[in-house]
Amino acid sequence: MDYRELVFSFNRIGIALTSETKLQNLFNLIVDEIIEFADCDACSLYIKDEIKSELVFQATKTVSLAKKDGSESVFRSFSVPLELKSIAGYTAITGETVNIDDCYNIPPDKHYSFNNSYDIKTGYRTRSMLSVPMKDSEGNVLGVIQLINQTDKDGNIVPFSKEFEEIILSLASQAAVALSNARLLEANKNLYKALVEAFSEAIEARSPHTAGHSKRVAFISHMIAEHINQKKEGAFKNIYFSEEKLEELKYAALLHDVGKVAVPENVLEKRNKLEDEDIAVIKNRFEVIKFSTEFHIHDEELKNNFLKQIDGDLKFILEKNMPGPCNDEDKARIVEIGRKKFVDFQGEEHTYLEEEEIYMLTNFVKGNFSPEEWEKMKRHVTSTLDILDAVPFTEELKDIPRIAGAHHEMLDGSGYPQNVQGENIMLQSRILAVADVFEALTAHDRPYKKAIPVDKAKQILGFMAKDGELDKELVEMFINENLYQSYLDARDNDQIHA
Ligand SMILES: [Fe+2]
Ligand SMILES: [Fe+2]
Repeated sequence: MDYRELVFSFNRIGIALTSETKLQNLFNLIVDEIIEFADCDACSLYIKDEIKSELVFQATKTVSLAKKDGSESVFRSFSVPLELKSIAGYTAITGETVNIDDCYNIPPDKHYSFNNSYDIKTGYRTRSMLSVPMKDSEGNVLGVIQLINQTDKDGNIVPFSKEFEEIILSLASQAAVALSNARLLEANKNLYKALVEAFSEAIEARSPHTAGHSKRVAFISHMIAEHINQKKEGAFKNIYFSEEKLEELKYAALLHDVGKVAVPENVLEKRNKLEDEDIAVIKNRFEVIKFSTEFHIHDEELKNNFLKQIDGDLKFILEKNMPGPCNDEDKARIVEIGRKKFVDFQGEEHTYLEEEEIYMLTNFVKGNFSPEEWEKMKRHVTSTLDILDAVPFTEELKDIPRIAGAHHEMLDGSGYPQNVQGENIMLQSRILAVADVFEALTAHDRPYKKAIPVDKAKQILGFMAKDGELDKELVEMFINENLYQSYLDARDNDQIHA
């Protein structure tokens, strides 16, 4: 190989090594590149595990055996003790390059010896071997690369030349630097993952009744996206989510409600239209009303009728305090009851209900929130955006804030917080919206909310799609292709983990 060729090869390998960030792919790439560069028949790569004092066999390739078998044999990683007596161990411990002309003829004064079990098992004949340390920029040995049976132009096995040692050593160092970077990246990713999960769990700890919601929404979203990846026809045939994009979607789903940290607890955990404490006060007041009635009315029949009516009024108020709709007639009755008057023990006149109580029972949205509370609740999405916008996500995860921040946007522009419409809502956010609605509808019974039967939940999803709120194609796929059932099965078999 002349000088120009050498520089060119080095450059090419360097670029390849730095662009591969997945560890196993990187190991395979190093082995492939070295075999091609060195014209040798086999190459193996070991990584040092200092803590366990082991060498882990990470990748290997034997060109002649692969040709003979017609296929690559299945590689299984295994570990060997980090000892001077093996050639790889010796290289890893001392950091020295070992260049052997014939492995079956190693001088007895050497610390190491050749282990011929692989040759016996496969019928292979190992002859020349070059074992080089993978040293990082600080000189630490991260692993060992072993080259076996270098061939000359005519295909004869020859010893590795002395000059060649330096070049391979230098390549092994490049590989070591690439390995350090890939490890750093992986550690970074793991840190991200752990932080996202911890963050997501922290939000849910505030609201025990919806615990696990984000994890389940992440599961559904990921499942929908993976299903889209398999589509060869239909609306999603040209869409493919790479591994990074799938991860981005999963993180966005885990974090979509992170803004709930900014929602006051009484709103977040609100069960009914009036809080339990308010209801206790009302019940108490009705006791006083009854006492007062008994005290002031002496005619038995009239008194009993009054008492019955008071009980009926309270029952009605308690019923209407539960989340759910309230028609104009009901509202009129609440106002009528609320404005009735009674006299307390001090002789002071009061109404059955305070104006504030009447307001809470008759002015509500989404089942049980006052308009002001609902505004606070809706603000969780803006907070999600604010929080996630402040996170310096890597290039592959940069759309997390945008995806998560649009999970309540509806295709027809009726969603919040920005009333974004149609195509302006990323597909990932539309997936998240379907997952979010379905999970919430089918979540198991809560103290204040019964689970909606699955058929009813499917029907609601269908209506929302028909009304132009949710993505019709997504909802149809989710229901008609039984994705919803796969989710429910996984949930009920406790198979949903972050
Ligand atoms: Fe939300
Ligand atoms: Fe949600």
